[in-house]
Amino acid sequence: MKALILSGGKGTRLRPLTYTGAKQLVPVANKPILWYGIESIVAAGITDIGIIISPETGQEVQAKTGDGERFGARITYILQDQPLGLAHAVKIAQPFLGDSPFIMYLGDNLIQDDVNPFVETFKTQHLDALILLRTVSNPSAFGVAKVDEKGRVLQLIEKPKEPPSNLALVGIYLFSPTIHEAIAAINPSARGELEITDAIQELLNRKAPVEALQLKGWWLDTGKKDDLLEANRIILDTCLQISKNGEIDDNSQVIGRVKIGTGSKILNSTIRGPVVIGDNCHIENCFIGPYSSIADEVILKDADIEHSVILQKASLIGIKQRIVDSVIGQRAKLEPAPQRPIALRFMIGDDSHIELA
Ligand code: G1P
Repeated sequence: MKALILSGGKGTRLRPLTYTGAKQLVPVANKPILWYGIESIVAAGITDIGIIISPETGQEVQAKTGDGERFGARITYILQDQPLGLAHAVKIAQPFLGDSPFIMYLGDNLIQDDVNPFVETFKTQHLDALILLRTVSNPSAFGVAKVDEKGRVLQLIEKPKEPPSNLALVGIYLFSPTIHEAIAAINPSARGELEITDAIQELLNRKAPVEALQLKGWWLDTGKKDDLLEANRIILDTCLQISKNGEIDDNSQVIGRVKIGTGSKILNSTIRGPVVIGDNCHIENCFIGPYSSIADEVILKDADIEHSVILQKASLIGIKQRIVDSVIGQRAKLEPAPQRPIALRFMIGDDSHIELA
């Protein structure tokens, strides 16, 4: 069994963060989203992994993730020149996949469930496709399944205007090599892409064995800011391992589940977990409240932060109001203005969003 992880795409919904980086590398609890998928796949015993990359962000994904050694896997990078769809990605990965069955995993998806039981079901039932479904409130934004009373899939439709159910296709699929024939038989959709949803529909048309399982745990498609904060909250709640490296002075209080990286200094501050703080951060006269992730080399002085994600090398100094529900990009700076003239001064990237109290 092999794995194919998709890590291309433009990430338009996470702009401006994705102007300068891949959406799959945006960290959740200080770890790139993509890595959660890799770890889950390796935990299911699959170590031969292909990652689809795009010309825009491929180098960054490759540099950060490496050859797979850190995960106990072997990673092959496969360049998709143009974003021509998920089924197109499978097509170009054919030389890597050969005639092996595989798990396909969209690199911006996070699920609570282990993938191992799905892999086992797929193998023991000799399926051509196993898809995962999850109820959602906005099915039109996804691939949607129409199922019978026993949960068997009758039809799959990509982004339907009038969804036949609220069961969305989660971005994790298991396929036998028969999927390649189905992909060869489909045409591009209205949005000009070869849709994997249409290829699975083609398998259904051919009466091939296709099964669906419903996810029990949470599923996060980390496409937008609020999804990212939600993913961060859930991961900090469920997976955070306490460890306190770095230096915490006597005037500081660290309460609850907190992870602090090496070389970080916590001075005269209160940290109330769950909170993760990366390496080499400087935190002075601050309150860092629950559900915050502070990446490496961040500087925070005289700041109150809660339920927020602060990315690498950002600095927040002398902010008089509490910062909540925020995502602050890499190297962003928030600092006090000179006394006069009293004014706000901005240098804000495209598509940024600021809410002033
Ligand atoms: C893709 C699939 C869709 C699926 C979704 C899950 O959509 O085409 O069927 O429900 O991933 O994340 P996209 O993210 O390309 O809009």
